[in-house]
Amino acid sequence: MSGKPIVIGGSQGEHIAIQLARILGAELGSVEVEKFPDGETYVRVLSEVDGKRVIYVNSLQRGPNEALVETLLTLDALRDLGAREVHAVIPYMSYARQDERFKPGEAVSITTVAKLFRTINVDSIYTVDMHLHRITDPTALFGAKFRNLTGVRELAKYVKANHPGILSRSVVVGPDEEAEQWAAIMARDLNTEYTVLEKKRLSATEVRIEARGANVKGKTAIIVDDIISTGGTIIEAVRVLRELGCEGVLVTCVHPLLVGRGYQKLLQLGLIDLVGTDTVLSPISRVPIAPAIAEPLTSELGPL
Ligand code: R5P
Repeated sequence: MSGKPIVIGGSQGEHIAIQLARILGAELGSVEVEKFPDGETYVRVLSEVDGKRVIYVNSLQRGPNEALVETLLTLDALRDLGAREVHAVIPYMSYARQDERFKPGEAVSITTVAKLFRTINVDSIYTVDMHLHRITDPTALFGAKFRNLTGVRELAKYVKANHPGILSRSVVVGPDEEAEQWAAIMARDLNTEYTVLEKKRLSATEVRIEARGANVKGKTAIIVDDIISTGGTIIEAVRVLRELGCEGVLVTCVHPLLVGRGYQKLLQLGLIDLVGTDTVLSPISRVPIAPAIAEPLTSELGPL
């Protein structure tokens, strides 16, 4: 007996939970999240979860610290209220980029975040294009079956549907070596070639990009990256591509954090399009991530 699951969205996951529940044919639950007068987070699960399979969705952005506390409080409450299974869908996992002690004395933040998840003992964790460059065994680190999904195939579907005219003369571009994995997926889905630029990070907001051997002259570049944060990487990549004779640039990303004036700066680049998924809500979050999550959830959790 599997029982109808219940999908519950946190304050940054409700829009995804609604779509996920619809695709899965699951019940949509709810949770109240408020603030105590002193700023502490208050969580109250409003749905009956005792004995149920619960899928909880929340992205850890737009105030990553607040979202992390809300998520941990909710997941623990779900367990405590008798949920039979608790599956955490964290489309954007914060702190993943601080996965190493880059300078002496730094906290390795993602290991601390993972320890907190371990204490709650969820059944599985699903993330989307999490920065896993130096984490080789996330299942061991988080203490739960871990699946890192990708939103790039949804972005490719969007490009195909909305920009069919550019595909025959396009090249997919990963702005740095780490983006090769996403460029390869996008290029395969769009049936085109890809190239990867070389990026050196100078500071949290500044990067320098070089393009050795990238043949983009006369072509339309479709940039794909996991995250746009300050926009520094994309701005520098577009500058280099144009220097190389690229005729037009379309930018796609999975997680459009768009911090500070990043969005305004990107708007000034005269791009063909600028689009992200809705793992994080922003003015460019036009590609729903729920379908990319629903498929593996259905096949891996068994009959829902
Ligand atoms: C870096 O590892 C990521 O893949 C992104 O390229 C980076 O986070 C983008 O940051 P920003 O928009 O601030 O350059």
